[in-house]
Order: sequence, then structure tokens, then C-alpha cells
Amino acid sequence: MSHLFETYARSDIELVDGHDAYVVDALGNEYLDFGAGIGVMNLGYHPSSVQAAVEKQIKGIWHTSNLYKSTLQERVAGLLTQGTDRLVFFANSGAEANEAALKLARRYTGKHKIMNFAQAFHGRTYGALSLTPVTAYQAGYGVDQDVVTVPFNQQAAIDQLDDTFAAVILEVVQGEGGIHVADRSWLQRLVNKAQHLGVLVIVDEVQSGMGRTGSLYAYEQFDIVPDIVTVAKALANGLPVGAMIGQAKLGTAFQPGSHGTTFGGNPVVMASAYAVLQSLTPEFLADVQQKGLAIMHDLVQGSQDLQQVKAIRGLGLMIGIELTTDVQPVLMKLRERGILALAAQGNTLRLLPVLTMNEQEMHAGVMTILTTIGES
Ligand SMILES: Cc1ncc(COP(=O)(O)O)c(C=O)c1O
Repeated sequence: MSHLFETYARSDIELVDGHDAYVVDALGNEYLDFGAGIGVMNLGYHPSSVQAAVEKQIKGIWHTSNLYKSTLQERVAGLLTQGTDRLVFFANSGAEANEAALKLARRYTGKHKIMNFAQAFHGRTYGALSLTPVTAYQAGYGVDQDVVTVPFNQQAAIDQLDDTFAAVILEVVQGEGGIHVADRSWLQRLVNKAQHLGVLVIVDEVQSGMGRTGSLYAYEQFDIVPDIVTVAKALANGLPVGAMIGQAKLGTAFQPGSHGTTFGGNPVVMASAYAVLQSLTPEFLADVQQKGLAIMHDLVQGSQDLQQVKAIRGLGLMIGIELTTDVQPVLMKLRERGILALAAQGNTLRLLPVLTMNEQEMHAGVMTILTTIGES
């Protein structure tokens, strides 16, 4: 009998090791990883610079609490804010980063109402769950009612925005919701109106950030400047972390005691995050963009005669293939063929490959994915 709550429908393979873009199961089978631990292992398994940084820190201090000065946190915050006038709060997960954003926005504006979007996903803690409009996730929990859900990429969202809102929160590329990329002009109009009204714009980059779409943050490709950005997942390439990055003017809303966490910004995690951020050079990001274009080209060309493919969407290496057939059997078949991938809402096959996967591996993987879809 399992002693775990059944919150996950787990596959029966157990992953015990990995190298580069591959994971290895307990029986020694290798899988090319187009899921990256749900968008976490962006630099693959055992990336040498990250591993060396973590090993070095493990030999020093593992934990100090946030009662003491932290040069490591300052360094990571420096790389996250990229020389701009912004401040960072470190947490342990994406949901926690969003909780921090929600608290900061409400305290700073003195208002409570939040605008969010259909198909959004912001996490499972109470605040983040309240911003995640999926009945199956919210049912029975008594979520926060001060949330107004509007359609993504629709003028109706902009029309409904007024100065009674504290903030609007969105993913510029919705991940769990099925890989929906924001329309550039719509997003710019939304952000302009919000900022004109004094409504804070929170961009959740938990899945789309850290190079996933070919820029450090996906929002950079939309020419907007959010008031708050949240990241997590790939920031420490597999160690638990979250960060909320806010414009410095918002700093007045948080004083000692306003918010906190025991583990957030832990030294081992920060050592990893610092090494990860140092790896995300302009060359690295350009390579992600290039691979994103190549994979899209392969997918569009290869799916022309496949009735099972309804739509292909994405940005960089965050890609969704909406199917007319059930996605789960396709994922199972892919596993048998040595490929791990993900599902997202709306019968979407979601690809979040390890960013360091080489082009040949990626191309071969995509061909297997297309063949498998074609057989479904
Ligand atoms: C966009 C987005 N926000 C928030 C979260 C929640 O992150 P975590 O599971 O680390 O709490 C996720 C997780 O999938 C996500 O994709």
C-alpha cells in the first residue's frame, strides 16, 4: 500500500538518474527529456558549473535563516534585476512567489480586487489557487472571491479593467492552460491601461522565465515593463526556489514582519541559482531562440497531413500541440519509445525540452513525436 496522498496520477517508471538531456529509470532505460521535470531542468542533468557551485556550498553552510545578511542572495537578486531599480523577495516555489506578489500588490495599492485570466495557472496555495480558475483545482476549498476572471487575448478584458483593481496577473505564455501566447498588441494595450489607472501588472514567469522562451523573461519579447515579476521552477535547475521581483517604488509596502519564510533564499539554492543565471548568456538565449524556430519548423512541416493536430503554438522552447485525439495515450506511447513529454489543458501535448538538448536530438525526438501522434 502507498503511504502517499493520491494527489498525482503517477506513471510507474521511477527516474533515478540523468545526464545531459536524458533521464534514466530504475531499470536502466534512458528517455530524452521533453518535459524537464515540468520546466525545471532547463540546463539538463548534472550541469557541471551548477553542480560544482552546489557541491562547494554544501561543504560550507547549508542554512542560515533570513535573520542574517546574505551576499549570495544579493548576487542572485543582482542578476535577476539586471541593473534595473527593482527589489527581490526569495521564496521556495512558484506559488509562494505569487503569494508574495499578491500580498505586495494589495498592501501597496490598499485595494484587494485582482484580475486574472481564463486558462491561467498560478499555483496551489490559497492565494495562488484563487488566481487559478480551474474548477477541478478550486472545488471545495473556499477560495478568495475578490478575483475577476476575464478572457485571455480578448478586448473584453481591457474593457473590464478599471481603477477598483489592485492588480492584474497573467502569464505572457500560458503554460498549464495549453500554451497560449499573448497577442502582442493586446498585451501592450492591457498593460498601458492598467499602469495608467495605477493597477499593478504582475507577470508570472514561473514557467516561461529563465530562458525558456529565448529571453531571460518572456515579457521582454513583448516590450512591456511589469510592476512585479515572479519566477521559480528553472531558477535553481532543480532545487526548490521562487522569487518575486518588484519595482523599487513598491518597497515601501514591505517592512520587517510584512512577509517572510524560513527557507526562502537558502544558501545552497542560491549558489545553484547564481550558477544558473550566469549560464544564461546572450549566446545561450540566442541558441534557445534558434532551436525554438527549428523545432517549430519541424512540427509545422511534419504535421501538415496529420488530422490529429489541431494547432501548434509556442514561443522559444515552450511549445504546445493541440490534438483532436486524447493526449494521454500519446504520452504513454512516447514513453515506450524513450521520450518524456507533458500534457496541458485542452488536450495539448506540451513540450518543455531541456534547453541544452542538441539540435539532432531535438529533431529526432520531434520526428518520433509526430509519428506517434500520427498513429493515435
Ligand atoms: C505559470 C505558473 N505559475 C505558478 C506555478 C506554481 O509553481 P509551484 O508548483 O512551484 O508552486 C506554476 C507551476 O506549474 C506555473 O506554471
